Amino acid sequence: MRVLLVGGGGREHALGWKLAQSHTITDLIAVPGNPGFAQLGACIPGIDIKDTEAIVDLALANAIDLVVIGPEAPLAAGVVDALTEAGVRAYGPTKTGARLESSKAFAKEIMRRAGVPTANSRAFTDVDEAIDYLETVKPPYVVKADGLAYGKGVLVTEDLIAAQGWARLCISGEFGEAGSTVVIEDHLAGQEVSVFAICDGTRAVALEPARDYKRHLDGGRGPNTGGMGCYSPVTDLPDDLVDRTITQVIDPVLATLAEDGIEYRGFLYAGLVLTDEGPKVLEFNCRLGDPETQVLLSRLNEDLLELLVSAAEGYMPDGPLQWYDRAAVDVVLTAAGYPDNPEVGRAISGVNEVNSIPNVQVFHANTKRTPDGLITAGGRVLNIVATGQTVPEARALAYEAASHIHFGGIHFRRDVAQS
Ligand code: GLY
Repeated sequence: MRVLLVGGGGREHALGWKLAQSHTITDLIAVPGNPGFAQLGACIPGIDIKDTEAIVDLALANAIDLVVIGPEAPLAAGVVDALTEAGVRAYGPTKTGARLESSKAFAKEIMRRAGVPTANSRAFTDVDEAIDYLETVKPPYVVKADGLAYGKGVLVTEDLIAAQGWARLCISGEFGEAGSTVVIEDHLAGQEVSVFAICDGTRAVALEPARDYKRHLDGGRGPNTGGMGCYSPVTDLPDDLVDRTITQVIDPVLATLAEDGIEYRGFLYAGLVLTDEGPKVLEFNCRLGDPETQVLLSRLNEDLLELLVSAAEGYMPDGPLQWYDRAAVDVVLTAAGYPDNPEVGRAISGVNEVNSIPNVQVFHANTKRTPDGLITAGGRVLNIVATGQTVPEARALAYEAASHIHFGGIHFRRDVAQS
C-alpha cells in the first residue's frame, strides 16, 4: 500500500514512524516531511500543504492508496474533499467536518444540538453588542477569535477593559482568517485533559489519554506554547472518563454531523475540563495533538495503517484498541526565543547517539539537514520519547537521553511527567 502523509512536524514524523511498521505498507512519502521522516520515506518539498490541487496531483502521480493528513490547516482548506472528488482515499474530515476546529461558533452550535456539556457561550459579529454583553457577565472573561488562530486567538482575563479590547481585535480581523466573529463563553474551572478518537463517520474508538504541558517554564509558568512535553498513561483520571467522552460527547457529535450530511472520518480531539459538574468540552480539534501523538503511537499495539484505511472506508472494527503495557514520556527540546521569536540555524549534535539508546526515539519537529549537518529550523526542535515499565522509568530515560542533545539556546522543561 502506498501512503502519502501531509505535514512536517513531530506529530507527522511519529505518524510516519508508526505507519512504516505496517505489514501492508510498500511506499511512504511525505509533503513536506522533515529530516527525521526522511529516514522512513521520500520528502517532497516546495508544495503548500493547503494547495488542494497540488496535493491531489501529487497523490495521483504517485498512485497513492491512502493520504493521511496531520495538521488542521489542509483539512480546513478542503484537501480531503478534493482528494475524494479525484477518487483518492483519504483519512481526515472534510472541510465542513473540520469546522469543528476551524469555527468555534460552529463547534458550539453542534454541541448545543448534540446535548454535549460545554461552557455557555455567545457569538458576535457586532463589536458594540460584544462589548455590551461582556458588561453583563462575570469574570474571568473568555474571549475567542472564531477561526484557526494557532493558539493565539484566545484571551482569558479578569480585566473587563482587556476583554472588550480583545473582542474588538477579533472582530476587526486581527487574526486573519480567524477574524470577524468573536465567541464569548463562561470560564470553566478544573483540570484539563484531552481525549482522542479515531472516527469512521458513524463510530469512534478511543485512544488512551495523554497529559501535555502547555506552559513554557517549569511549574506551569511562562507563556502558552504548542506543548513542551507529555506522558501516557494518565492514571489519576476518573475510570469512566474515556468511555463517557465517547458516549456523551463524540458519538452524539458524529450523529449530529451526520444529520447534516457530514460523515466525519478522521481523528477527533476533545479538550475537556473536569468541572465540579462533570467533564465539559472546552474545544474540539480535527486532528491529533502534538506532542501527544508521539507518546500515544509509541504505546499503540495496532497496525495504524489498517486502522486508518478501515476508518477512511467507514467500516472500522469494533472493540477497544490494544496497547503495549508500557509508559511513554516525551520531552520537547525548544529553541531560544520560543514561543514568540525562535532562533533558527543552530547546529544540533547527539541525535544519532540518542536514537541508538534502547527504548528511546527522537522525533524531529523543526530541523533542517544542511551539508554541514543538522540545524534548528523553528521553535519546537526535537521530541525525545522514551518508554519504560512505569512513567517514572520512562521519564528518567527521556531526561537522560535529552542530556546528550546539544544546540545553542536549547531549552526544555525539567518537570514533564513529574508527579
Ligand atoms: N498539544 C496541544 C495541541 O496539539 O493542540
